[in-house]
Amino acid sequence: FLFFKLCYLIKTMSSGELYTLYRGLMFPKETHCAQSLKFAQEFTFKDDDVAVAVYPKSGTTWMQEILPLVLNGGDLTPIQTIPNWDRVPWLEEKRLSVVVDKLESPRGLVTHFPYHLMPPSFHTSKAKVIYLMRNPKDVVVSSYHFHKMAEFLETPATLDEFMEKFLQGRVMFGKWTDHVKSWRGTDLGDRIMYITYEEMVQDLPAALGRISDFLGRNLSEEATRKIAEHCSFNAMKNNRMSNFSLVPKKYMNSDTSPFLRKGIAGDWENHFSPEQLVSFTSVIRKEMEGESFSLPWSME
Ligand code: A3P
Repeated sequence: FLFFKLCYLIKTMSSGELYTLYRGLMFPKETHCAQSLKFAQEFTFKDDDVAVAVYPKSGTTWMQEILPLVLNGGDLTPIQTIPNWDRVPWLEEKRLSVVVDKLESPRGLVTHFPYHLMPPSFHTSKAKVIYLMRNPKDVVVSSYHFHKMAEFLETPATLDEFMEKFLQGRVMFGKWTDHVKSWRGTDLGDRIMYITYEEMVQDLPAALGRISDFLGRNLSEEATRKIAEHCSFNAMKNNRMSNFSLVPKKYMNSDTSPFLRKGIAGDWENHFSPEQLVSFTSVIRKEMEGESFSLPWSME
């Protein structure tokens, strides 16, 4: 027990070493650095690029599976041969500069940036963006488990402690509410589409249809069925190009918690105490007061 306690202390004591601060937000140093953030700011978006903007733990990896298949009409080659982080790279991460020249157009990118950090070329291009949201109660639970298994992130002591940090924005990419507000308040018109993780869980073929229409693709029923099958939770859990099993255990320890953990809506009910539910929802509700849009989930 003492040994584990000591390991925990060493890891938490060095939390300042784990993150880099950039424009007021925390970014994990393992995957981000000053150069990668500069590269993102100077990145040149093309008109046919498609970005997925998403707060961490809301279905990023799922979209890294879906997007290439919708764009190419269901050819499985990318998801069978390219790891998700190189297939649809993060705009802000170190890998982008390494793989950018290998990306075939139309390119797919993901980003955890809030809207105001998007680079100038995004605004002047016609690139489209899909904003993916997940119920924040499930985001905090998913993130809590992820922080326990990702060795490059600060290990939370308890869900209570992690929840407090999450609500205060003392986690990577800041407050969930700031992220959502930034992307809901854009002037992008028909360049942006909104979708929820829950909608995808409930009816993936219908969600694929919406994505395909937004991107001007005309997916056949057969292609839609095939994509839905290969993007199911179980298919992705067994796809080594997407389940992070290629990442050494010293970075992500799947023995602690698998990356593709449960893949359901509503797991918060198995984690929240009645007190946590009251305090969590009251903070979120208060932060969303006065916004012109309402959240698609009950905040009770
Ligand atoms: P859980 O921890 O609740 O299981 P991100 O990719 O943004 O880090 O999000 C990870 C979350 O998305 C995890 O949630 C993961 O299981 C879930 N996820 C990934 N692929 C999924 C799929 N095909 N179906 C449902 N959930 C999926």
